[in-house]
Amino acid sequence: MIILGIESSCDETAVGIVRDGNELLANTVLSSMDLHAKYGGVIPEIAARSHIEAIIPVVDQALEQAQLTWDDIDGIAVTYGAGLLGSLLIGVLTARTLAIVHDKPLYAINHVEAHLYVNFITKSQVPEIKPREAQPTFPMLGIIVSGGHSQLVLFQDHFDYVLLGQTQDDAIGEAYDKVAKMIGMPYPGGINVSIMAEKGDVNAYKLPKARLTGKYDFSFSGLKTAVLRLSQQLVGKDHTLPSGALPELLSDDQKRDICASFAQVASETIVDKALLAVEEFQPASVIIGGGVAANTQLRRNLAERLNIPIEYPDMKLCGDNGAMVATLGCFKAMNGAPQADPYTLEVAPSLSM
Ligand code: KG4
Ligand code: ZN
Repeated sequence: MIILGIESSCDETAVGIVRDGNELLANTVLSSMDLHAKYGGVIPEIAARSHIEAIIPVVDQALEQAQLTWDDIDGIAVTYGAGLLGSLLIGVLTARTLAIVHDKPLYAINHVEAHLYVNFITKSQVPEIKPREAQPTFPMLGIIVSGGHSQLVLFQDHFDYVLLGQTQDDAIGEAYDKVAKMIGMPYPGGINVSIMAEKGDVNAYKLPKARLTGKYDFSFSGLKTAVLRLSQQLVGKDHTLPSGALPELLSDDQKRDICASFAQVASETIVDKALLAVEEFQPASVIIGGGVAANTQLRRNLAERLNIPIEYPDMKLCGDNGAMVATLGCFKAMNGAPQADPYTLEVAPSLSM
């Protein structure tokens, strides 16, 4: 079973080809991030336009990388939500057209669910991507940490899962990006905050951890605001100082310590809840997906506190990619999940788990 997966929910035009849900045959990507960086965030119109230009070349490149032709492909999977409307439209319309032209079954993929599915890849024909040693086993606890989502999901089996909890406001990646902006780092700054945090003192400043009524829910908005207030105070100003003025006023030492204190509380927030879920549900595996799964502080915190070892996906498979879409597509096809209608499949920008 060979599935070609198309991902275009945000700024990455990405295609993956996966065999039997465990073997990566191709993973190609073209990002329009450079075009957005100067605006400090993704501009939906620019992203959509870039997808139009990139998508067919990226599909062709994936087939070439896998040394396959359309005759070898058993089905097409495509992200239909969640994401930016215009970006999703390009991927979905391309997949619909390809499914009709090449007469292939079409599978509609939930982006958030797909982030976790890269954990099933245990073989790779793509030299720069290292597969996991073993597939996770059920029941499994899924931790999704990305720029748009922060969720805990309990899977009893494929397609049989419950959402235990999620962020009530900002996603963890969004909080990282906002803190990055406050210290003058370009968008998306999560990785830079993480690098700075390694050089700072985690105990330099006391930042608050949100208390929520939902046992497995998160919140990152208060933490982000606490970083802003702390920074304003450190430079001797009040809450009226715009955050855009902070990068020039904060010292490098202060920036490093802010990052370290923030990264510590942000990762603890996730780990506290993951720990509770492990105690309550005793999963056989814990898996993690999404851009922030690459984060050093979160990985360290999980290793220190969770009594269950976590095998991580390759860094290149943490952020948005086509392999995750193709992998989930394989499991759908292998389990006889319903196919999407290539003449009517619509996008679902606010789809959730
Ligand atoms: O999964 P992803 O590529 O896109 C979404 O589905 O949102 O996640 C992107 C997010 C961004 O907020 C980015 O800053 C963050 O992941 N990110 C990181 C790291 N690498 C990417 N945040 C913290 N530490 C990192 N190493
Ligand atoms: Zn994503």
